[in-house]
Amino acid sequence: MGNIDEIKQRIDIVDLISDYTSLQKAGRNFKALCPFHLEKHPSFFVFPEQQTWHCFGACGTGGDVFSFIMKKEEISFSEALQLLANRAGITLNQDKTTTDKVEDKYRLRLFQLNDTASEYYHHLLLNTSYGEKARNYLNKRNISIKTAKEFHLGFSPDSWDTLTELLTGKGYKEQELKDAGLIIERETGGSYDRFRNHLMFPIHNNQGQVTGFGARTMDESLPKYINSPQTLIFDKGNSIYGIDRASSFIKKEGQVIIMEGYMDVLTAHQHGWQNSVAAMGTSLTENQVAIVRKLSKNIALALDADAAGEQATLRSTQVVARFIDKTEVTVISMPPGKDPDDVISGDPELWQKLMGEGSPILDFALETVTKRIDKGNAKEKSMSVQKLLPLIHEIKDPIQQSHYKRKLARRLDIDEAGISNALDKWRNGKTRRYETVVKKTDVSSHTNRRNPTEEYCLALLLLYPELSNTAQELSVEHFKNPVNREIFTQWRCYGNCTEMKKQMAPPLLEHLDYLLGMPILEQTANKQQHALSDCVLILQERELKKREAEKAIMLEVTREQEGTAAELAKLDEQGISSSEQIMAVQLKRRKITRGQDNGYN
Ligand code: UTP
Ligand code: MN
Repeated sequence: MGNIDEIKQRIDIVDLISDYTSLQKAGRNFKALCPFHLEKHPSFFVFPEQQTWHCFGACGTGGDVFSFIMKKEEISFSEALQLLANRAGITLNQDKTTTDKVEDKYRLRLFQLNDTASEYYHHLLLNTSYGEKARNYLNKRNISIKTAKEFHLGFSPDSWDTLTELLTGKGYKEQELKDAGLIIERETGGSYDRFRNHLMFPIHNNQGQVTGFGARTMDESLPKYINSPQTLIFDKGNSIYGIDRASSFIKKEGQVIIMEGYMDVLTAHQHGWQNSVAAMGTSLTENQVAIVRKLSKNIALALDADAAGEQATLRSTQVVARFIDKTEVTVISMPPGKDPDDVISGDPELWQKLMGEGSPILDFALETVTKRIDKGNAKEKSMSVQKLLPLIHEIKDPIQQSHYKRKLARRLDIDEAGISNALDKWRNGKTRRYETVVKKTDVSSHTNRRNPTEEYCLALLLLYPELSNTAQELSVEHFKNPVNREIFTQWRCYGNCTEMKKQMAPPLLEHLDYLLGMPILEQTANKQQHALSDCVLILQERELKKREAEKAIMLEVTREQEGTAAELAKLDEQGISSSEQIMAVQLKRRKITRGQDNGYN
C-alpha cells in the first residue's frame, strides 16, 4: 500500500478535525463553527463515511484530511504528508528518482568542496604566517583561539587564485567551484577567488555540513561583510549561523537566543551562552523561525538597539506572529547603540541582568509602535492600532487578548470598544482576502482510489500543454485523489514538468512518472482535445453531484436541528443550486459526445 492510502486508512478525519474545532454530532455526520473563518452559526460539516469535510459558509470549499491540514497549518502538501505520517506512526518511503539521486550526489560534492575550502582557510588562520593578521584581529575583538577552533574560523589569502589552484589541484572542476559560490566569473572570461583577505566564518547546517561562508574585512573598508551567494546548498534566509554548535544547548536550556551577527554569536558562546544563534543581519524569516522552533518553543530575540534594529525586530514580530500562541517570544533590549557582542564582552553581568528582563514580544511591539505617537493626532493613533491588529488577532487566548486590547486602549487614550471594532473590521477584510487566495489555491478531495478519468485528464494535460485552454474550467475541487489534486495544483503553478519535478516529494514524483507514461489513445490534436473536454465534463459532473449530496445532508441537519426557516435561509445563502449546474454540464457533455466520432470513455 502507498503511504497516502496508509495514512488515509489510519487517520480518521473526525479525530483529526476534533483537535482543531469542537464538533457537534449531526445525525451520522458532524458540524462545527468553521475553523477557517469567523461565523456565528455552524456551516462546517464533516462526513465520516466519505472521510471529507465541507464548509457551506463563506469558504464554500472542502476536501479530505490532507487539504484540511494544509489549510489549517498553512503548509505544503509534502509537509502535510510528513505531519500526517507522523501522526499515523508511518515512516514515509523515500524512494528517490534518478534525477533526485544525481542532484543529491552533486549537493554532497559541493558540501565536500566547501569543507575542503573551510579546512584550508582554518589551517591558514591557525598555523601560518599569512594568518597572523587575522589572529591579531581576533585578539583585538577578544575572540579566543578556542572559540576560533570551535567555529572553525578561517583566513582567506590575499590572492586572486590560491583557492582555485588548491581545489582544482584536488580534482574539482571550475564549474563546481562556481556552483559552490567560491569563485566569481569575469565578464571577459576566466574567474577569481570570491573571498580574499577576509576573516572567514563557515556557515554550517544542523548536520554540521558547510553550506556557505560569511567573511569580514579586517579594516574599515566596505562592505564590512560579504557572504556566499545563493547556491544549490546555501540560502541565507534558510540559514541560522551557529545552529550546529548551539542545538544541543538550545534543547538543554529550553531556550534559543537569536542575535543579529556572527560576532555576537562567537562572543556569546565564549561566555557560556551557547544557546545563541544568528539570523545574519536579515530580519527573521519564517523558515528560520521554523528551524529554531523545532529545537525550542522559547525564543529570546536579542537584536541590535538602533532604530533599524527596532524596525527589524518589529518585522520579526510579524513573522513570529503566526506562532504567537504556540511560542514564547521575548525581546531583550540592548543599551542604545550596543549589540550583544558589545554588552557581553564589556559587562557580562549586565547581559545576565538584561536576559532576565526581556519583555514579551507583544509588549515590545506595543511599546515600540506607540511610544512616539502624538496623542492629539487621531490619524497617528489609528495607524498604530492598524499596525498591531495582526498581532492582537493571533492571540487566541481571550484573557490575554483582552489584556492587550485594554493596554493599547489606555496607551492611546481611546475606547477599548474602538479597538475591538477595528479588529472585527480587519478580520472581515482578511477573511475576504484569504478566500480569494484559497479559491485560487485550495485543494480538496475525498477518496483515494485509482481514478481513471482523473488520471487520463492529467496525462493529457501534462503531455500536451497546448491543450491547457480546454481545461480552464477545471479546478482542484474536481480531483478526489489527493495525489492527482496536488499534481494538478503544481501543474497550474508551474505549467511544465521540469519545474514541477524540481521540488516534488518522492511519492508525487512516482505518480507523475506513471501519468507521463500513460498510453494516449487519441492520435490527432483534435481528438485529444475532445477527449480532454470529455474528461473535464465528467469530473465536473461528478463534483457537482457530490456537492449536491453533501448539501442535502447539510439541509436535513439544519431542518432537524433548527427548523424549516433556518433550512430556507441556508438554501438562500447557497445561491444557484448545483442541480441546475449539473443539468447544464450534462447538456454540454451530450453535445460533445454527439459531435465527435471517437469519444473517450
Ligand atoms: P552588524 O553590522 O551588526 O555586524 O551586522 P556585527 O556582527 O556586529 O559585526 P561587527 O561587530 O561590526 O564586526 C550583523 C550581521 O549582518 C550581516 C552579518 O551576518 C553580520 O554579522 N551583515 C552585515 C552582512 O551580511 N553584510 C554586511 O555588510 C553587514
Ligand atoms: Mn558588532
